[in-house]
Amino acid sequence: MDDNVLLKIDGIVKTYPGVQALKGITTSINKGEVRALVGENGAGKSTLIKCIMGVETPTEGKIEINCDGKWESPKNAIEAKSFGMQANYQNVNIAKNLSVAENYFLGCLPRTKLGTVDWNQMYESSQKIIDKFQLTVDPRATIESLPIALQAMINISKISINEKVRLVIFDEPTALLENEKVVTLFNYIKELKANGVSVIYISHRLEEIMEICDTVTIMKDGAYVETKNVTEVNKDYLISKMVGRDVADIYNIKHQEPGEELLRVEKLCGNSFVDVSFNLRKGEILGFFGLVGSGRSEVMRAIFGVDKVKGGSVYLRGKKVSFKSPKDAMLSGFGFLTEDRRTDGLALSQSVELNVNIYSYDMISKASIINLNKERSRAEDYREKIGIKTPSIKQCVNNLSGGNQQKVVISKLLCRNPEILIFDEPTVGVDVGAKDEIFKIIENLIAQGKSVIIISSYLPEAMGMADRLVVMAEGHVAGILDSEQLKKVNEEDVLRIASAVYAENNPIVEAV
Ligand SMILES: Nc1ncnc2c1ncn2[C@@H]1O[C@H](COP(=O)(O)OP(=O)(O)OP(=O)(O)O)[C@@H](O)[C@H]1O
Ligand SMILES: [Mg+2]
Repeated sequence: MDDNVLLKIDGIVKTYPGVQALKGITTSINKGEVRALVGENGAGKSTLIKCIMGVETPTEGKIEINCDGKWESPKNAIEAKSFGMQANYQNVNIAKNLSVAENYFLGCLPRTKLGTVDWNQMYESSQKIIDKFQLTVDPRATIESLPIALQAMINISKISINEKVRLVIFDEPTALLENEKVVTLFNYIKELKANGVSVIYISHRLEEIMEICDTVTIMKDGAYVETKNVTEVNKDYLISKMVGRDVADIYNIKHQEPGEELLRVEKLCGNSFVDVSFNLRKGEILGFFGLVGSGRSEVMRAIFGVDKVKGGSVYLRGKKVSFKSPKDAMLSGFGFLTEDRRTDGLALSQSVELNVNIYSYDMISKASIINLNKERSRAEDYREKIGIKTPSIKQCVNNLSGGNQQKVVISKLLCRNPEILIFDEPTVGVDVGAKDEIFKIIENLIAQGKSVIIISSYLPEAMGMADRLVVMAEGHVAGILDSEQLKKVNEEDVLRIASAVYAENNPIVEAV
């Protein structure tokens, strides 16, 4: 047996009612190897991870891990952990009502000699992890009080508690992270590798794979395609193997000549932003970019009636508006895709059909009687249009892959036919084929004279899609780049604006 091999995945098949999620996956991973797993939404990546971790039992096949020469097969998550296997799952699995420190030490609380919990030691050790990952957070803070990006980072840093770790699995770790935290994560992965720890890394951002992984396994429709060294492949190659077709420049959509002003925001102030002013015109795509804490999502949440507005005004078609709740905003023609949509807004135990229609039953009902044909055809329509991969629209949303759940969320917003669509991180976690589809939908929306706001922490996307780009820094608008300026600047320039320290009367954008 090869000493250098850490993990053997041998003929894994996983069948769910109506779905063969894995069709026989065989590969092995060496010690200290960073292996990427790529494939479209629903290809079976997360299912494979669950089989490796003993969370799901494979229908056929075997998983073995080399524990200092002894080959073990984990039967459940606790055994996997004792063999040095750690997974960071796609859906942030963190106890929201507990503190940061409690989450770190859940299941292994440090004890005093008297057997009580040693809180001092727990906070001290937690602070060390917090420092290592350069987080700004009090170990006593409750998870639910923290922004989602920070929650995701705490979930990642939690892995470092297990000192005898041999294999770490990351399932879409950067989906909720800000750019600068991606660097912290990559440094951590390099450190793991240097210590001989193996890593499995799942991401739809192929640039990341080229940067941090040694090898890449491509999966398609539950089947193993091939494993390559990353030096042997490029992005286009991966895409064509994953999707089975070429996906050309996805940001290359037809833009419109923006029409009259639809939305005007004047000196808006909220909890974490001050004096934010911008406008949005008919047929326009307005991008919003900023680093963590810049307030970009908070501004939208305030406009949408989720958070409190402390000052300033919002005008819709010249008329002052102030929404009391998201529902209020929705009825006035707004659609808002939130950042935290994985847990937000889906009735997980209900069908795809119900979830797609959930916001807009009033539009397909007469005298409280739902038109069932319309209900079904709408769901079928979106399943087809943005490619929701599911055996049927009657399938329960809980059983869909992460990316496909998001496609359901997007569909239910589009069903309302909103005038102004706000997308907070529209393509996080969706595969390249679906990104292409989502951008085509946006292209279609603006062609109908609708307006779109895209908040993205992914610069190529923000710059590639926007007609104008609002760059925020420290709760202020640091600059608004128009389409001419956007053509001239590169990513570094925008990052410089976004990291600028705000100075009164000093419009930072002038520096470009
Ligand atoms: N508990 C379940 N019951 C029924 N089907 C399931 C279940 N879990 C997963 N599936 C199906 O198995 C397939 C593979 O899903 P999986 O979550 O592994 O995909 P993925 O590659 O991780 O996709 P994504 O990129 O969207 O996260 C999908 O078709 C999914 O709907
Ligand atoms: Mg997945």
